[in-house]
Amino acid sequence: MFELTKKVAFVTGGRRGMGRTHALALAEQGARVVVADIDQNECMAVVEEIRSKGGEAICFQMDVSNKAEIEHVFDEVIKQYGRLDILVNNAGIYIPKPALELTEEEWDKTIDINLKGQFLCAQRAAKEMAKINGGGSSIYPRLLPVRLAWESPAARIIPRQKAGLSACQRP
Ligand SMILES: NC(=O)c1ccc[n+]([C@@H]2O[C@H](COP(=O)([O-])OP(=O)(O)OC[C@H]3O[C@@H](n4cnc5c(N)ncnc54)[C@H](O)[C@@H]3O)[C@@H](O)[C@H]2O)c1
Repeated sequence: MFELTKKVAFVTGGRRGMGRTHALALAEQGARVVVADIDQNECMAVVEEIRSKGGEAICFQMDVSNKAEIEHVFDEVIKQYGRLDILVNNAGIYIPKPALELTEEEWDKTIDINLKGQFLCAQRAAKEMAKINGGGSSIYPRLLPVRLAWESPAARIIPRQKAGLSACQRP
């Protein structure tokens, strides 16, 4: 497929679902994988799965809506590996409610994690990637076109968050 030996890949929300799948696939291609999520034990299970197949991985507990935690974990990754090549900006939540039923707390939590959290991770990752000759890559597993997201009647907050995220990806 493609060669990622010696590359360092950071996967947020990596303990399960698409994040876990990304972590395993990147490790299979030779990347050293950082698995971060809100639950350290479940991250460790992914790390052990990668190691059992001969891959290299480490994990951290990290809430993407918490800037101090992001800074601490990225500092540790750079201390350990000295570089960052790939960010899979995957962590997120989904509250399946129509707009008229969504509470203020649910709105704030979704935007904190899915928009602010993704921006903060991308911002810190980009600072590290800018130090590498050739730069790095950020992957956003969730980025469906905003127009398509509107077609899900139960998910009206998601397209608003996606529109913000699309705007954040422009320099
Ligand atoms: N599965 C789909 O069809 C689909 C479609 C569109 C978008 N998405 C989005 O893609 C991403 C992955 O989807 P999934 O189906 O694997 O979802 P999932 O719920 O299985 O995985 C999301 C991961 O993000 C983690 N997470 C949640 N809040 C966090 C926080 N504050 N800090 C760190 N990690 C946090 C969760 O613990 C979980 O491991 C999600 O953001 C989801 O909203 C999924």
